[in-house]
Amino acid sequence: MKTQTSVAVVYHSVTGTTAGLAEATLRGANQIDGVRAFPVRIEGGDIHEGRYRNASALKAMGEADAIIFGSPTFMGSVSAQFKAFADATSEFWFQRHWAGKLAAGFTIGNNPSGDQLNTIQYLNILANQHGMLWVGIDLPGGFDPEGRNRLGAQSGLIAHARDGMLDPADIATASYLGSRVAALSRRFVPERVENGSYSL
Ligand SMILES: Cc1cc2nc3c(=O)[nH]c(=O)nc-3n(C[C@H](O)[C@H](O)[C@H](O)COP(=O)(O)O)c2cc1C
Repeated sequence: MKTQTSVAVVYHSVTGTTAGLAEATLRGANQIDGVRAFPVRIEGGDIHEGRYRNASALKAMGEADAIIFGSPTFMGSVSAQFKAFADATSEFWFQRHWAGKLAAGFTIGNNPSGDQLNTIQYLNILANQHGMLWVGIDLPGGFDPEGRNRLGAQSGLIAHARDGMLDPADIATASYLGSRVAALSRRFVPERVENGSYSL
């Protein structure tokens, strides 16, 4: 078992709601002993002629044991900026560099059912392309005493912004998701050993 595991929260946000969910996710992850969580914000300035080129950000997340992906839902999927980032990770796909890391995802839209599920499913596919292990939400939608997971998505956090504002229940769900991924990173992240195999 590693003495410390790390969780990267990689996200894009224009008007700040996805950023608010990312902050809550980080707070939740950092509450877990032995875990260091850090943000990687995808900026428009990282993208040159359509290609995401932030080598230091890619290096930092490559060293994390878990990566939580966050994007606003734009036209029923991830934002163009997030997709540019996702395409840039293909160099790690060749190397299987992210295989075995934990992954999870969150998104937000301004409609209660604005096709956010497609965004979560894209994030799940991205994780699976890399051989990552997807972590959903185990809070039963509609049955949590604290009202978390109010929209009932189990595969990731779907949030809904009203008038550009975050709902407190969505913030609480993001914090829970961060804690869950962080806690699981303490249990499941294997140590890579010299010959490329894993030891638990
Ligand atoms: C280009 C664009 C497309 C959008 N498409 C959707 C959509 O398909 N479904 C939805 O529910 N909201 C959609 N929205 C609303 C955003 O998802 C919403 O405002 C979100 O809170 C923005 O996240 P941010 O504050 O992190 O930038 C769209 C917004 C923009 C600007």
